Amino acid sequence: MELIDNIADMKAFSNSHRMQGNTISFVPTMGALHEGHLQLVKNARNISDILVVSIFVNPTQFGPNEDFDKYPRDLDKDKNLLEELGVDTIFFPSADNMYPDGFQTTVEVQEIQKPLCGKYRKGHFKGVATVVLKLFNIVKPHYAVFGEKDYQQLCVIRQMISDLNVDVEVLSHPIVREQSGLAMSSRNEYLKSDKRQQAASISDALFNVKKQFDSGVNDKKNLLDTASTILNEAEISEIEYLEIVDGQNLSEKKAVSSGDVVAVAARLDGTRLIDNIRL
Ligand code: PAJ
Repeated sequence: MELIDNIADMKAFSNSHRMQGNTISFVPTMGALHEGHLQLVKNARNISDILVVSIFVNPTQFGPNEDFDKYPRDLDKDKNLLEELGVDTIFFPSADNMYPDGFQTTVEVQEIQKPLCGKYRKGHFKGVATVVLKLFNIVKPHYAVFGEKDYQQLCVIRQMISDLNVDVEVLSHPIVREQSGLAMSSRNEYLKSDKRQQAASISDALFNVKKQFDSGVNDKKNLLDTASTILNEAEISEIEYLEIVDGQNLSEKKAVSSGDVVAVAARLDGTRLIDNIRL
């Protein structure tokens, strides 16, 4: 496994593989890898000759009061996990290499970044779109795999690729969950064990909405009330949003239909958790 810590070497690696006719798949991450990330990596391993994983805690997607400084980092552990999965290259650039003095260009996907997380994390998706396009230009993948856990991020990236004619095929991977149902996240590390149990009621709420929808209920208020009741009972009170949106463009739905997404963001002990389910 090659460890590449700078942009020039990463480009040279990818150029040389492309010249040999090899296909490259790519999984961008911020490290602190868990089984959710690893499932994406396993999936990507099967679709190309060469597999690149990036580890970069991207400063520009964190707001001034967010957890950039305390975001978990464990490069040695991540390296071992990725080596076991047959990853060819880990790309882990420094922030100075990615954002040198004088950096001034950003990518902003206008509409799809506005609802849900966009309301609460100003500038977040601009940071994500910009870094992902930079990573695509550096790693030059044929395929990139993203998780459905960050559903709005996936929509933002698909929109950017379409609008800017980027030659990367995006594949999405279903949400990987702990046994309790809690969506795996690097931020779960912040939660003490009793809080983790409490956090599982977030997925519980979503599963129940889906169950109700599948049994024929399509009244939006009824569906959202079901979720709110479960969250209230679990004493999850800091809910940023709980919404049912169109699965394609994330617009708010009046009449709920198949393919819509129920999305939630809540804070537990200061930790921000997101989850979603497709109806
Ligand atoms: P990060 O949070 O490290 O996630 C990297 C990838 O793993 C994303 O595509 C995310 O959706 C996916 N992922 C995380 N937890 C998952 C789970 N439980 N099930 C399925 N997929 C999961 O997302 C980012 O990093 C960054 O925003 C990034 C795209 C790397 C840009 O900086």
